[in-house]
Amino acid sequence: MSERLIIFDTTLRDGEQSPGATMNMQEKFRLAQQLAKMRVDIIEAGFPIASVGDFESVKNIADNVRDIQVAGLARANVKDIDRAWEALKNGENPRIHTFLATSDIHLKHKLKMSREQVLELAVASVKHAAGYTSNVEFSAEDATRSDLDFVCKVFAAVIDAGATTLNFPDTTGYAMPDEFGEQIRYLLEHTPNIHKAVLSVHCHNDLGLAVANSLSAVKAGVRQVECTINGIGERAGNTAMEEMVMAIRTRGDSSPVTTNIVTEQIHPTSRMVSTITGMIVQPNKAIVGANAFAHESGIHQDGILKERTTYEIMNPVDVGLSAGNLVLGKHSGRHALKDRLVTLGYEDLNDDEISRVFDRFKTLADMKKDIYDEDIEAIVMDEIIQVPESFKLLSLGAMSGNKTMPATGVRLLVNGEEKEGAGLGVGPIDAAFRTIATLTDTSSKLLYFAVSSITGGTDAQGEVMVRLEDDGKVIVGQGADPDIITAAAKAYLNALNRAAYLKDKKQQM
Ligand code: KIV
Ligand code: ZN
Repeated sequence: MSERLIIFDTTLRDGEQSPGATMNMQEKFRLAQQLAKMRVDIIEAGFPIASVGDFESVKNIADNVRDIQVAGLARANVKDIDRAWEALKNGENPRIHTFLATSDIHLKHKLKMSREQVLELAVASVKHAAGYTSNVEFSAEDATRSDLDFVCKVFAAVIDAGATTLNFPDTTGYAMPDEFGEQIRYLLEHTPNIHKAVLSVHCHNDLGLAVANSLSAVKAGVRQVECTINGIGERAGNTAMEEMVMAIRTRGDSSPVTTNIVTEQIHPTSRMVSTITGMIVQPNKAIVGANAFAHESGIHQDGILKERTTYEIMNPVDVGLSAGNLVLGKHSGRHALKDRLVTLGYEDLNDDEISRVFDRFKTLADMKKDIYDEDIEAIVMDEIIQVPESFKLLSLGAMSGNKTMPATGVRLLVNGEEKEGAGLGVGPIDAAFRTIATLTDTSSKLLYFAVSSITGGTDAQGEVMVRLEDDGKVIVGQGADPDIITAAAKAYLNALNRAAYLKDKKQQM
């Protein structure tokens, strides 16, 4: 009988450390609910001392999301730990996750502390956290570049001080799979009281090895893996949860563990993360990329038609992709839409929100024959999951062609006041963005623009992601519409609304 691997999701904390991936409180809450539905064991909801917004968000999740452990990150000091506990205390089995670096390079240049001082501080911090809860995790930051005997000494001491999970992070993504497995075996053999705690790993993907390293650690005896949806996270990201979980499931023959993850929720969760963060998944990304189950060559297609397993090692249905996920059409009613929304994880929409989604659905169904799950998700994201709208698109008209000077006319509500304008540009999207910037009196810089089609077919909705720099902050925005110029304008306005919302919040603090 396989042992259970604990899945610790840090999309909301390390994932949010991806440049430009900030999420607001409402988005974090929705994602936490989705992670609970996916049966993740622990959600690291944030770093409560980092900002008032982070604190409130962790508190909101700990207070309201049930049947899951909620963790909050804290540096190894009393202030951080107190703040983390304040945010977590109403949660079900809340976890304080405290960390301190153990590598000489961090001790010398960052902490300016001796090993003795680090050991003392780690023990004191864990003791302080254990005064609040018996669910305490200690991470030895930059563990893979630390002297292993020192890590063993710290681990043994913090277990005695009350730590129940010990995390061995590859903070810089430096480890190689064989060597990482050896390090884990060494820890298990040389930390005398290690059997009293769960050993965990947290890998970064700087060399593209985060999943391989995590799998190697599991083989060596680790029973908790920290990961993120789509592998987002600091720099090159973290261990991708979907890859880890599907590797364990697909290669159960070579894995000593199983997970509790509802794999059918992988695809909806991946889409939710990419839409909220604006971080598009590369098409060839394992498990969740658009091409992960696409067969281009005739030989492969022929094989698949004869027997799916000739070229597919996983069933797309198992990761939440159904081959014919055509769900609704022009004649579908509100009831059918509501049913589908519940299946897609939006069971908590109120009547007014369902009506708004239904109106948008009907408009789309008039333009486009087949409505897929992805279309419905895009409408929900666009219509419901949003920040307060300082700027709202009322209408847009564009003119373009290879012999015409592109021009776009835009009508907006700007803080409740109707404004109208038109402008020229290199293309109609450029013209739309210039006009919107004038009407909203904003001056952000466009860093990134990407358009993709939500489903197949020439009548598919276009989905646009933008990344802007506004007042030194990187903000993402997304928008969807069958007309890509309108989708682009919506994405741009969504980013400007987020920027305005952040500025408002800052002023209130
Ligand atoms: O990468 C890292 O070391 C971390 C720790 C805080 C666990 O994110
Ligand atoms: Zn990390």
